[in-house]
Amino acid sequence: MNKFFQMLKKDHEEVKGLLGQLKEAKGNGAKKREELFQKLTEELVPHMKSEESTFYPPLLAAKEAREDAMEGVEEHHVAEMVLKELEKMPKGEDQWGAKMSVFKELVEHHIKEEEGKIFKSAEKALSQDEFEKIMKQFEQEKQRIKKDLK
Ligand SMILES: [Fe+2]
Repeated sequence: MNKFFQMLKKDHEEVKGLLGQLKEAKGNGAKKREELFQKLTEELVPHMKSEESTFYPPLLAAKEAREDAMEGVEEHHVAEMVLKELEKMPKGEDQWGAKMSVFKELVEHHIKEEEGKIFKSAEKALSQDEFEKIMKQFEQEKQRIKKDLK
């Protein structure tokens, strides 16, 4: 399997794990939620931003992949908006739990689409050399953003 896809899937698994833990953190008070949410942000934000700057642009430029990629970008946008709301809101409130639940569904849906439709059209649109290049850029960009977040 495509090495770049494997790399993205590994990140996706990490994110899904944290989302699952956040759902379980219901009764454990705000502190656990704060801690897990921080971890989630540190994983998800660099991942999404790196995808947006390295993976999505070549897809948007390729006619076989453009439509699916446009949807993916919009899903990122919605996820980023909800993430900002979650960040601002007190973690102990019921509404936070409800919003997190919706966010989890949103992100899980996006991951499913990305690993399905988007990977498929990316394989049609990009050459092996292009994947190699994107993979390197993605990893560099992700590390850079992770550092900036700290
Ligand atoms: Fe994504």
